[in-house]
Amino acid sequence: MEIVGPNISQTIERNIAMELVRVTEAAAMSSARHMGRGDKNLVDQEAVTAMRYVLGHIAMDGIVVIGEGEKDEAPMLYVGERIGDGSQPYVDIAVDPIDGTSLCAKGLPGAISAVALSERGTMHCPAQFYYMDKIVTGPEAAEYIDINAPVSMNLKSIAAAKRRKVSELTVVVLDRPRHEKLLQQIRSAGARVKLITDGDVAAAIEATMPDREVDALMGIGGTPEAVLSAAAIRCLGGAIQCKAWPRTDEERKKAEDEGADVDKVYRTEDLASGEEIFFAATGVSSSVLLKGVRYFRGGATTNSVAMRNKSGTIRWIESWHNFERLDKLSDIDLH
Ligand code: FBP
Repeated sequence: MEIVGPNISQTIERNIAMELVRVTEAAAMSSARHMGRGDKNLVDQEAVTAMRYVLGHIAMDGIVVIGEGEKDEAPMLYVGERIGDGSQPYVDIAVDPIDGTSLCAKGLPGAISAVALSERGTMHCPAQFYYMDKIVTGPEAAEYIDINAPVSMNLKSIAAAKRRKVSELTVVVLDRPRHEKLLQQIRSAGARVKLITDGDVAAAIEATMPDREVDALMGIGGTPEAVLSAAAIRCLGGAIQCKAWPRTDEERKKAEDEGADVDKVYRTEDLASGEEIFFAATGVSSSVLLKGVRYFRGGATTNSVAMRNKSGTIRWIESWHNFERLDKLSDIDLH
C-alpha cells in the first residue's frame, strides 16, 4: 500500500507514551535496587534522578506541573522546571517517580513509577490542598457517581450500572484512621472492602479497568496523585471526582484567602483537560496491576503500561534490560 501526502503524519502520529515508558522503567529499576532497605528518601532520590535524566532526552518543551515540590525544596523535577530537549511539542508533565515510597522501602507490594503528559496548560493541580477526597470508578458507572451523595447511594448507583448487587462490589480504600467512618458506611451498605497501605494511583487505575478485583476507589489521598489518576482515567474511560480535604482550619483559610473554592467538585476533565494525554507506569514492587522489577544475571525485567487517550490504546509492556549494554548508553546506575 502506498501512503502519500499529508495524511502520513495523521497515520503515524507520535505516541509519546511509548517514550514515557522508558522514563518510568528507568525510575523503577533505579529505585528497585534499594527495595526493602528501609530508606524512603533513597528510593525516591534514585527514582527522581533516573526519571529526570530520561525525560531530559525526550523531544519536547515540557514544564513540570506536578513534581517533587517547589524549587527551593526539590533540586530536581520541581514544579515549574523546564524539561526535555526544548523542541516542540509544548507540554505539561506530571511525575510521581514512586507512588508508594514506603512500600518500596519496606519491600511491600504495590509501588509504581508514573508519569503523565498533555498539551501545555491542560493539567490542573489544586495545589493549595495537600489532600483530596476522591471517588473513582470505571466507564459503566462513570455518569452515575456523585461525591456529594451518601456512600450508600454511590454504591447503589455503581451496582446498578454494573448490573450487580452492592454485596458484589469491592471498594479500595487507603488504610488510614481518617477513613474509619467511610469504612463503616461502605460495610453497612454491604459492599466489600480492599484496604491498601499506600499507592492510590495504581488503585484508581485498577478501579477503572474492567474485570478487576475492585469496582471503585473511595477516600482521602494526595492531591498530585488525583491529577495523575485523572490523566490515566482520561485514557481508560471512567471517572474521578474529588473535593479538597483541608487538614486544618489554617489550610482551609489560607486556600480561601488565595481564592480557592474549598467546596468545588473537581471532575476528571477539570484535573486533566487535554485532548492529547499520555500516561505511563512501571511496577517497582509487584502488585495486581503490574509486576515489579525482577533481576536476572546481568539485567532485569520490567512490566509497564502505556496509555494514550486519543486512540484509547492501552499497552502492557514487558521489557528485558541488559545492564552491560545500557551502561554504555546512559549515565544511570542500574547495578
Ligand atoms: P508517597 O509515595 O509519595 O509517599 O505517596 C503514597 C501515598 O499512599 C499516595 O498514593 C496517596 O495518595 C498518599 O500517599 C496518601 O497520603 P498519606 O500517606 O499522607 O495518607
